[in-house]
Amino acid sequence: MVLALTLAMACLAVSTALARPSLEMRQRAQVISHCIVPGTAALTFDDGPYEYMYEITSMLRAHNVSATFFFNGENYGCIYSPENARRVKHAYDQGHQIASHTWSHADLTALSLDKISNEMQRVDKAIEKITGATPSFIRPPYGLYNEKVLRVAAARRQSIVLWDLDSGDSLNINISAQKSRYDQTLRRHPKTILALNHEVYPSTVHSVLPYAIKQLHSAGYRMVTVAECAGLSPYHSRSKPAHRDSSWHC
Ligand SMILES: *[C@@H]1O[C@H](CO)[C@@H](O)[C@H](O)[C@H]1NC(C)=O
Ligand SMILES: *[C@@H]1O[C@H](CO)[C@@H](O)[C@H](O)[C@H]1NC(C)=O
Repeated sequence: MVLALTLAMACLAVSTALARPSLEMRQRAQVISHCIVPGTAALTFDDGPYEYMYEITSMLRAHNVSATFFFNGENYGCIYSPENARRVKHAYDQGHQIASHTWSHADLTALSLDKISNEMQRVDKAIEKITGATPSFIRPPYGLYNEKVLRVAAARRQSIVLWDLDSGDSLNINISAQKSRYDQTLRRHPKTILALNHEVYPSTVHSVLPYAIKQLHSAGYRMVTVAECAGLSPYHSRSKPAHRDSSWHC
């Protein structure tokens, strides 16, 4: 896998120097800004794993809702710490989709091809060790991407996920303003909703999320993972998790 990617990146470097790059290396990752399957709403949570994981999943479970977690490798602590690895495994075992939010939450558009590749590869490897699954979706931090990001993601066979509803939880707006962002969207009766939330704010977990679930439910949306709402597969492969060893460090 690492070798394949290294080769792919080498090809990319060569192909950009040629007048006619090979077809494969001209590929760009698919960008998903909206759900496809009518009547679905995908709740997504960025920036974890974090300490609110269990509160979020028990709320989701109580409402029979599946969601998607975009995890970092090293943002709020190290993904390999026993607590964080447990949170990742727990979300996966509960049937939620696990996806990449890059290793360090860097702005990928400021990075070289090598560094973009490293940001993606490191967190995918961690997710694979912890859960046994290799994610086929990535959300770039801040929703920012460029041509290089699209090409590296394509070489990794990953789709880029954005959103069409920002709860505003990371924008320092108050709880009623966050709730009204859901209300405003629902008043438009969109066929689908792809909602951005973060795992790391208590107001999301305790106030906005329960409200959003209630409103989406009464409006008749089926709350599912991004993969399901887009009609795609969440992982390239699934197998057994690895055993903790000395490679589990940040
Ligand atoms: C839970 O959600 C799934 C998937 O949307 C659905 O098939 C199932 O009927 C739901 N179960 C209950 C008890 O609502
Ligand atoms: C929340 O923010 C909105 C918009 O800035 C403001 O109009 C409203 O008064 C605030 N509400 C509370 C409860 O602070």
